[in-house]
Amino acid sequence: MAIFVHYLFIILISTVISVVSFLLHRSRRLRSLRLPPGNLGLPFIGETLQLISAYKTENPEPFIDERVKRYGSVFTTHIFGEPTVFSADPETNRFILQNEGRLFESSYPGSISNLLGKHSLLLMKGNLHKRMHSLTMSSVSYSIIKDQLLVDIDRLIRINLDSWTDRVLLMEEAKKITFELTIKQLMGIDPGEWSESLRKQYVLVIEGFFTIPLPLISITYRRAIKARRKVAEELGKIVRERREGYERGERKSDMLGGLLGHEGISNEEIVDFMVALLVAGYETTSTIMTLAVKFLTQTPLSLAQLKEEYEEIREKKSEWEALEWRDYKSMSFTHCVINETLRVANIISGVFRRTITDVNIKGYTIPKDWKVFASFRAVHLDHDHFEDARTFNPWRWQNVQGTSCSGNFYTPFGGGPRLCPGYELARVEISVFLHHLVTQFSWVPAEEDKLVFFPTTRTQKRYPINLQRRC
Ligand code: HEM
Repeated sequence: MAIFVHYLFIILISTVISVVSFLLHRSRRLRSLRLPPGNLGLPFIGETLQLISAYKTENPEPFIDERVKRYGSVFTTHIFGEPTVFSADPETNRFILQNEGRLFESSYPGSISNLLGKHSLLLMKGNLHKRMHSLTMSSVSYSIIKDQLLVDIDRLIRINLDSWTDRVLLMEEAKKITFELTIKQLMGIDPGEWSESLRKQYVLVIEGFFTIPLPLISITYRRAIKARRKVAEELGKIVRERREGYERGERKSDMLGGLLGHEGISNEEIVDFMVALLVAGYETTSTIMTLAVKFLTQTPLSLAQLKEEYEEIREKKSEWEALEWRDYKSMSFTHCVINETLRVANIISGVFRRTITDVNIKGYTIPKDWKVFASFRAVHLDHDHFEDARTFNPWRWQNVQGTSCSGNFYTPFGGGPRLCPGYELARVEISVFLHHLVTQFSWVPAEEDKLVFFPTTRTQKRYPINLQRRC
């Protein structure tokens, strides 16, 4: 027994010595590197638990506020297993975004990159990324949305709203809509049994993003890998058929048609490309649709103003006439509502990057291979950049040109070489959705439903609402 206690004591002492020397070594190294000030928290866990518990509430801001107050707007922390430099500073964020490929490169957790596929645009680098990014930009350009996509966006949103009963889970419905829209835009397929069964598999893939990427430990991850294979098989079949058709001279004007027209892109690359677009537009657009409705419901004056805007449009049209580009352009208050929703509750609260080399920022050095997080949310909710920044106030955008706010303060779609190619498409989809929802229905929330920010921005109960059809 005495020997056992003796050993236990030795183990305890050596553990304490190792931890203390680890901490001392780390802090000496940090001082020699002139890192941004901050706190690396506990060994290995760092400050991850504080971050998660803050972002699981409706008000996660104290996590950033406290650190900015103590260390300044660029600080060091340790989250999700790695030391990370966190920027709440607009200038630094811009520097990070603009230097993609030169000083920084995009960095996704293992769980996400494995499931995306190695040819995904989100993971591509260098010249290949440049080429595929500009191809994506051109396949969802203004003129394509205006001349080809808008008519289907209007039609598919109406079909969905026609099927609604007197109670829906808005978040689920919005996700279904954005999935169907993306499938239509990518390969011209209308919603039906095939797209619904693909969506079920796809949802399992997305669940895998937020779990530990170890198949032996996580059932969710195993299921996600299986589902990813099925999604790839289904999309692969369509790509093969379409390529055969293309070689026989059949031409179609959807995104897949555009990709097949580019030499040197394999079927596997096309499938990964399509999965990336499905991922990038699905949760993002549907979350903003849902949260815009939530904020409008909580701000009746803004809802009334939106209704007025839509009534003016409908007065000039017959009941079932589709929205046209000029209607979309005339929705000035809708644009304010979307800007403001993106500002206060964007699902993309910022972007992770990894340094390719030692990088000097504001007199500090960030070592090569370190993680950096450019927080858009911290800037969007900073009182120095937006008056009464933490209040939903769509009117603040009324005298601002387009989507830009002075300087680099407003970046809901990122910037630099990885600027979101879907930024206009998302705005059009959200605008058409709000237009039909507000003109066809009145609604009240069915239950109290809180907004949370971890693992993603969403309402806890998927925002159930009771609806009444307008006569
Ligand atoms: C409200 C909706 C949306 C928001 C807030 C949003 C936001 C963003 C942001 C912040 C990025 C930059 C990521 C980074 O720098 O690492 C991004 C990238 C991207 N987005 Fe969007 N997005 C939305 C909708 C869409 C839609 C509808 C599409 C479909 C075309 C799309 C396609 C993409 C793609 C493919 C990328 C990767 C670009 C690259 O890495 O080169 N997004 N998005």
